[in-house]
Amino acid sequence: MTDELVARARSSAERAYAPFSRYRVGAVVVADDGSMFEGVNVENSAYGSTMCAEATAIGAAATAGVRKIDTIAVSCIDDSEPGYPCGNCRQLMMEFGVERVLLDGPEGVIEHPLEEIFPHGFKLPPE
Ligand code: THU
Repeated sequence: MTDELVARARSSAERAYAPFSRYRVGAVVVADDGSMFEGVNVENSAYGSTMCAEATAIGAAATAGVRKIDTIAVSCIDDSEPGYPCGNCRQLMMEFGVERVLLDGPEGVIEHPLEEIFPHGFKLPPE
């Protein structure tokens, strides 16, 4: 299952829009009801307007009404090493309760609990 999710993230990455960095990323999220959503990085000539693959995948899930995500798989197909999600995307993952992060690596899938790679994320105080 983890292999299949990462393979799907890899094939999503083929559709990345990354003409500036040439660094293509694909992501797949698995919601608590088992539904899946793909995302790719979408770059912009105003560089700061670029969206990460993890963010577009989470955005697609949220748009469909998902509020809890169990797993996200990420593949950076132009990297010889596993591409770890940026800090902003880790915070987005926390918002939707992501538990497990799967990364595509040259020696197979790498798995981390989100808590391990993003401890002490930002939380608003309780109301
Ligand atoms: N990128 C992602 O899609 N996810 C990350 O977690 C970090 C970086 C994208 C943004 C940009 O299009 C390219 O990778 C190079 O930074």
